[in-house]
Amino acid sequence: MRQTAIGTTGVKTGAIAYGCWRFTESTMQEADAKIRTALDVGMNLIDTADIYGFGEAKGFGGAEAVLGDVLEAAPDLRAKMFLATKGGIIPPRPYDSSYDYLMQALDDSLKRLKTDHVDLYQIHRPDLMAPVAETARALNEMVSSGRVRFLGVSNFSVAQTRALQAHLDTSLATVQPEFSALEQSPMTDGTLDWCSETGATALVWSPLAGGALATGQTDHPRGSAVLNVLDRLAQSHNVQRSLIALAFTMMPAAKIIPIIGTQNLDRIRESAQATAIELSARDFYDLVEAYRGVPMP
Ligand SMILES: NC(=O)c1ccc[n+]([C@@H]2O[C@H](COP(=O)([O-])OP(=O)(O)OC[C@H]3O[C@@H](n4cnc5c(N)ncnc54)[C@H](OP(=O)(O)O)[C@@H]3O)[C@@H](O)[C@H]2O)c1
Repeated sequence: MRQTAIGTTGVKTGAIAYGCWRFTESTMQEADAKIRTALDVGMNLIDTADIYGFGEAKGFGGAEAVLGDVLEAAPDLRAKMFLATKGGIIPPRPYDSSYDYLMQALDDSLKRLKTDHVDLYQIHRPDLMAPVAETARALNEMVSSGRVRFLGVSNFSVAQTRALQAHLDTSLATVQPEFSALEQSPMTDGTLDWCSETGATALVWSPLAGGALATGQTDHPRGSAVLNVLDRLAQSHNVQRSLIALAFTMMPAAKIIPIIGTQNLDRIRESAQATAIELSARDFYDLVEAYRGVPMP
């Protein structure tokens, strides 16, 4: 698979990543098959979070724990992946990015994942109560202790990202906003511009709008306009609509890695084909116009 640089770290990963949010029902054997399938097609950036599993049978930490079981049973897999996790959401509070909480959260994540380090640690959502200097102190120590290689944020505004960056010893490698043909705000709210400014990579979540762009089931006001353009492009490229939707997310000028979330092995394999699809500039702007509901000025 084509490779994409992770920030200015010098490290590259597959151009599409695999996410474990929906691992909540997976047995260890099922999770093993999904991870191996993702790695086989080149999706070596594996994204999880401590909160994944909360509210489901596995509970807080459940998705990390099942991935940790996979890694314990097949330790050779760890070196094949660029492992990313997140912390900082703790219901019902709901967020905590204090120094003490984050240091403990990382310890707990490493124990569940059964690894001595993660490649990327991301603050999952901004904690409006935590002074950024204190959050940054925790993140700086995570890196200096060798337990975290690189840092990222998720669902931060550009101003929040910049404020945190000002207190960090290293450059944020990634941001993680929602981005898809049905959620295009990172192109206009400054998120992708901040990535271009600093060299950070955008890992983007729900690139199929949580499945809506594959199933066609959406009540988004621009849903049918966007689906119509995706269908036309799918027909002309002779591929499934979901692949056009994935290809769209990789088109803006910034470095973008979509994180897919299918639990279906065939769909994991098939998604990898999106990196070979070449949409034209007109195709791209047709999807932007369908989302905005007006022609480009
Ligand atoms: N930072 C954050 O706040 C945040 C929030 C949400 C997600 N994430 C990350 O982003 C990852 C992906 O999110 P997501 O699961 O919402 O992504 P997604 O790829 O947009 O949606 C995946 C969903 O689409 C469904 N789907 C239906 N038809 C499909 C098709 N033809 N091809 C592919 N999928 C199809 C899948 O069902 P099947 O399983 O039946 O295929 C699955 O339920 C998560 O695992 C997580 O790592 C981060």
